[in-house]
Amino acid sequence: MTGPDHRVIIGDSRQMTEVNDESVHLVVTSPPYPMVAMWDDFFTELSSSSYDSMHDYLNQTWREVRRVLVPGGIACINVGDATRTRDGLFHLYPNHSRIIENFEKLGFITLPYLLWKKPTTKPHYKGKGAFLGSGFLPPNAYVTLDMEYILIFRKGSPRIFPPKDPDRYKSRFTKRERDEWFSQVWRVQGVRQSVDGLERRVAAFPEEIPRRLIRMFSVQGDLVLDPFLGSGTSLKVAMELGRRFVGYEKLKEMTEIIREKTRAGSDKIEFLEQAEIITQLAG
Ligand SMILES: C[S@@+](CC[C@H](N)C(=O)[O-])C[C@H]1O[C@@H](n2cnc3c(N)ncnc32)[C@H](O)[C@@H]1O
Repeated sequence: MTGPDHRVIIGDSRQMTEVNDESVHLVVTSPPYPMVAMWDDFFTELSSSSYDSMHDYLNQTWREVRRVLVPGGIACINVGDATRTRDGLFHLYPNHSRIIENFEKLGFITLPYLLWKKPTTKPHYKGKGAFLGSGFLPPNAYVTLDMEYILIFRKGSPRIFPPKDPDRYKSRFTKRERDEWFSQVWRVQGVRQSVDGLERRVAAFPEEIPRRLIRMFSVQGDLVLDPFLGSGTSLKVAMELGRRFVGYEKLKEMTEIIREKTRAGSDKIEFLEQAEIITQLAG
């Protein structure tokens, strides 16, 4: 690769012109997703109040993900479903199934996904208690959404490595790691509620999520992309695991948070604003 090993681009991932075709080995990301109250303003700003147009927005980034991934490259998308009352009726908005459909339309292969269950001591729904609906009387109570999805897609057939490829062998996981990580339900604590400010606002994921995904689906030296970087969790972990990294974040005010999160290695990260880019990442 030419250029720095770790790069943060303050810009819009719907046009990742700074990233070459077929140069990224793994995408790990959690997009802002439709119909969740915290993202309402964000999507309203786009004057797209409907679920469909919100997914159209994300799909522009997914199209770029397809372009930049190497053949056999993998994309891991962390997303939750959402519920909303519309015209007086309670509905499920199944973001995960819409994203699967959209990735399939883009020609990706859908692989078995993970379900991330955050253990909680006190279940809640908007602070009102765990269960919605009509208390203990059937049939009109609703199931609580307490899982998020980690969807996994591959661009075409699996990557091929030379026999005994040293980077691949250095990247192996243990039997214990394999047994736990490749089971479908992950119990991983969410980011502590004590974290506040912008990091909380962007719904940072715990480091354990990108740490597992990067170890499972890339080898040392690979290039990892997060098109919705937020506070920079995936960048921090990718650096620790000896992967190269490129991330996009639209909000300029996240820059300081990303610097703070990655302070141990922040001198190795190049920060750029999209308009200023002249060089390109090469594979
Ligand atoms: C759910 S957050 C990511 C949280 C991240 N996983 C973390 O651990 O901090 C989604 C982020 O995507 C950013 N974003 C939304 N649309 C974008 C776009 N088109 N290009 C780049 N970033 C975008 C938002 O500003 C937000 O910070």
